[in-house]
Amino acid sequence: MVWVIGSGGMLGTEVCRQLDNSGIQYVKSGLDVDITDIGALRAFASRWSVDWIINCAAYTAVDKAESEAELCKKVNEDGVANIALVAQECGAALIHISTDYVFDGTGNIPYTEDMGLAPIGVYGKTKAAGEAAVIKNTKKFYILRTAWLYGWAGKNFVYTMIRAMNSRESLKVVNDQRGTPTFAGDLASLILKIMDKKIEYGIYHCTDLGETTWWEFACEIQKQGILAGWINEKGKNCTVNPCSTEEYPTPAKRPAYSVLSKEKIQNALGLTLPQWQESLKVFLNSELFKKEMIL
Ligand SMILES: NC(=O)c1ccc[n+]([C@@H]2O[C@H](COP(=O)([O-])OP(=O)(O)OC[C@H]3O[C@@H](n4cnc5c(N)ncnc54)[C@H](OP(=O)(O)O)[C@@H]3O)[C@@H](O)[C@H]2O)c1
Repeated sequence: MVWVIGSGGMLGTEVCRQLDNSGIQYVKSGLDVDITDIGALRAFASRWSVDWIINCAAYTAVDKAESEAELCKKVNEDGVANIALVAQECGAALIHISTDYVFDGTGNIPYTEDMGLAPIGVYGKTKAAGEAAVIKNTKKFYILRTAWLYGWAGKNFVYTMIRAMNSRESLKVVNDQRGTPTFAGDLASLILKIMDKKIEYGIYHCTDLGETTWWEFACEIQKQGILAGWINEKGKNCTVNPCSTEEYPTPAKRPAYSVLSKEKIQNALGLTLPQWQESLKVFLNSELFKKEMIL
């Protein structure tokens, strides 16, 4: 049996959708099974014969984390340690999701899995500590680092940009942070492939291919959003201006460069991941696109 933790989040929803489509039996939990409560996790696990745990639960409010460090640590480090312990106790393999924000972003070539971690914000620090807790507490694990995630369920940059373009004359978007937008559909599909192929346990970088800045991503959203019919007349005329991180200060510092090397996962699974622009097209042109998110 597969257990999806954090099933109500953006990635969790997509993982469940793909498990449904593949006819794979699973059980799911959200806030009803608080990951910071090991008793609750153990009680849930005892009801099923769990072979796989997919942990999509996390504290993900990167800026808010700077003023809620304790809560963020409780979920991303202590909660993840609990999940890893329970995975070890019930002999399940754990798939845990981590982030590019475990790196400081001072590099200029794609980060490989063996590079040293140096997170620069509370969120990244707690996610790095969560990775360490997985490695310490269980043997059969996959840590999948992803980045700049967007999917049909949940708030994300793509919905936010379309909504903003459709209602404003101009926008400023940072142009000095480089990374890779990643479609949750692609990550969920990788998770299912990992479960099917049972590749070697360890850490894998899992984003779409290519790299860009938030400003270039916003421009592509406008271009493709017009073709997909989600951008109104105002949005077509909205000017999207590049700006620097300094001009758009946020409570949390973000890595300037967080492109991840995908060689390891591509070699392990024998596949080529999609380019981020192609995946954006899939996202925008699907019936699953949520119109209400751009109103
Ligand atoms: N989004 C990104 O850009 C991004 C980038 C890199 C990596 N990631 C990682 O990818 C994974 C999935 O992210 P996502 O965007 O799908 O996140 P999300 O939409 O915020 O979903 C996270 C889920 O975890 C649940 N949760 C929070 N605290 C919990 C607790 N104590 N017990 C049980 N459930 C709890 C949340 O419930 P409530 O919503 O009800 O609080 C939510 O449903 C996370 O590990 C995240 O760190 C995300």
